[in-house]
Amino acid sequence: MMAGLVFNGLDPHPHLANLTSSSFGLFQPAMHALSSLLLLGACAVQTVFGRPEDSHARRDAEILRRSVDSFIEAQTPVSWERLFCNIGADGCRAQGVAPGVVVASPSKHDPDYWYTWTRDSALVFKNVAEAFTHSYNSTFQRQIQNFVISQARLQGVPNPVGDLSNGAGLGEVKFYVDLTKFTGEWGRPQRDGPPLRAIALMTYAKWLVANGYTSTAKDQVWPVIKNDLQYTAQYWNQTGFDLWEEVPGSSFFTIMSSHRALVEGAALAKSLGLSCPACTAAAPRVLCFVQSFWNQNQGYVVSNINGGNYRNGRDANSLLASIHNFDPTVGCDATTFQPCSDKALSNHKSTVDSFRSIYAINRGIPSNRAVAVGRYSEDIYYNGNPWYLTTLAAAEQLYDAIIVWKQQKSINVTPVSLAFFRALVPSVNTGTFAESSSMYTTILNAVQTYADEFLTIIDQRKIPGGSMPEQFDRNTGAPLAAADLTWSYSAFLTATARRAGRVPASWSAGTGNTLPNNCAAIAVAGTYTTATNINFPPSQTPGAPSPTTTTGSVPQPTSCGEVLVTFNQRASTEWGQNIKLVGNHPALGDWNPAKGVVLNSGQYTASNPLWSISVLLPANRRIEYKFVNVQADGTVRWESDPNRSFTVPETCNEVTRSDNWR
Ligand SMILES: *[C@@H]1O[C@H](CO)[C@@H](O)[C@H](O)[C@H]1NC(C)=O
Ligand SMILES: *[C@@H]1O[C@H](CO)[C@@H](O)[C@H](O)[C@H]1NC(C)=O
Ligand SMILES: *[C@@H]1O[C@H](CO)[C@@H](O)[C@H](O)[C@H]1NC(C)=O
Repeated sequence: MMAGLVFNGLDPHPHLANLTSSSFGLFQPAMHALSSLLLLGACAVQTVFGRPEDSHARRDAEILRRSVDSFIEAQTPVSWERLFCNIGADGCRAQGVAPGVVVASPSKHDPDYWYTWTRDSALVFKNVAEAFTHSYNSTFQRQIQNFVISQARLQGVPNPVGDLSNGAGLGEVKFYVDLTKFTGEWGRPQRDGPPLRAIALMTYAKWLVANGYTSTAKDQVWPVIKNDLQYTAQYWNQTGFDLWEEVPGSSFFTIMSSHRALVEGAALAKSLGLSCPACTAAAPRVLCFVQSFWNQNQGYVVSNINGGNYRNGRDANSLLASIHNFDPTVGCDATTFQPCSDKALSNHKSTVDSFRSIYAINRGIPSNRAVAVGRYSEDIYYNGNPWYLTTLAAAEQLYDAIIVWKQQKSINVTPVSLAFFRALVPSVNTGTFAESSSMYTTILNAVQTYADEFLTIIDQRKIPGGSMPEQFDRNTGAPLAAADLTWSYSAFLTATARRAGRVPASWSAGTGNTLPNNCAAIAVAGTYTTATNINFPPSQTPGAPSPTTTTGSVPQPTSCGEVLVTFNQRASTEWGQNIKLVGNHPALGDWNPAKGVVLNSGQYTASNPLWSISVLLPANRRIEYKFVNVQADGTVRWESDPNRSFTVPETCNEVTRSDNWR
């Protein structure tokens, strides 16, 4: 009842009380009072500076800007405080929670969010670690270290999805706050947890390297990261549930996160004097898959495919994917869907527009003005409402874009992004506008104002005092659902950090944004090791980087001593059956089907029943193997004799073997 209790007998927005969908109209007086700031902002957006009415427009924009400034000033300390309140063991609302564990929300009923989700936790700690790298704080550091330790433990908890032996268990998303498994029915697996967690941990590992603590990064943090990277390289091409835990299929957010983690992982490994062949092999193939979510005709990302296609496709999933893969060093690159890329801006417009007519609180707001943003228009959870974190994501993407435009001193308007820009600046045409042009300034001001309007909506919908739950009511705007959602606070903090021009560290996107010639999916079998033996040395305060730190290009997939061998097996199977590879090497389970490698069926079709897996095997080794069909009930059916065999060649290239079920 947490969210309910907050509002019993206390309407936090009395001025909203008479706003029902039927009383809504563009010139309705209450509407005016409610969003006077927004309307002032509109004036600035609609006016091209350089005309007589300029000073008026500029003053309106300035008023909006100052009001958002003061909202941020008040809300920032509250957000940090509330965020840490939800983290164990000493968070003010986290009694009984293990150290470093993030509770999704303190709400225990209606809804019960008294669990820890890998995705939410990773995004929260990505933010904490990023803030820490900008300004050293020992409290943040202790929290981050506790997070690393808690996640290493969590990786080893057997759960309904599986366990650590073949990595499968890493796909479980939700655990009790004491880190025990949750066995209730749920949308499983969710494959964004491991890459997002790797990204959060890498933010800290990279700080360690940059400050001379490479061995801490390598010995304490990398083993945890490595499990998550191996999982990502092995399972990215299998379906799972989306970030909203509703749709089984392939989710844009998950695939984008997977790509980033693999690219960043390869670069981090190199800086530690290690390598991640699985990362390097899989990342370009994941990037190919990323491209297939783009709907060229409609100009937006279809957020769920391979099963989720029954919705219209526009989903804040894609806004979150863009902001969480922002890398300021690759400009407006569309291949990695950078926030200022033409595709991401077109998608921003389409996605935001999809919420304009469906919520009563958005009705009557002109099409060039910010509106409350939900998850997707078909949403029925709690009757389908706007969320704080999705509305904030809409703002954050625009602040990201502004950072890059200012950095590159120009704005490029393409046929793909023209509609986005025209909504804000009707007179704009395609072209590149240099910093010195008045169009550059007009666009920049318009986008800044538009972004600030999204924050104004958050300001209006927060609970007085700064508390933010998960959602606000589509008809009345009243806050509702899980109280003090940790992710809401984190989303506020990242959006406003970008507004202040604080850029995230590069994830080496520039080493991983080229599409390969071969776009066939590749799943690389991982090896997984318990990484719980963690000891953080004390007093690791900011220092100089170690002399051993190396930078530069990412290494080749394999170091020629180990060869990436892809096994393609055509085998028609029935639902619930898996094809496994077993053979005379530990990577092939030493002939034990229980330890064999499950092949990936991500490309399986009735006419081409392809099962595939890539395994790193030593060069010159004679390998004997067979495939087995494992039924849903665990029964193992072996291929007929003889054993298959070959000698791994000495090569730095990938080797492919193609077999048919025998
Ligand atoms: C570090 O962060 C904590 C928690 O937000 C805060 O209370 C403290 O003032 C910060 N310390 C410094 C030195 O900024
Ligand atoms: C696997 O990858 C291939 C190639 O990109 C793609 O066509 C297929 O839809 C993917 N399947 C899944 C489940 O990810
Ligand atoms: C296949 O290899 C296994 C393990 O070495 C062995 O027990 C079995 O006899 C072999 N099968 C044939 C037909 O050689």
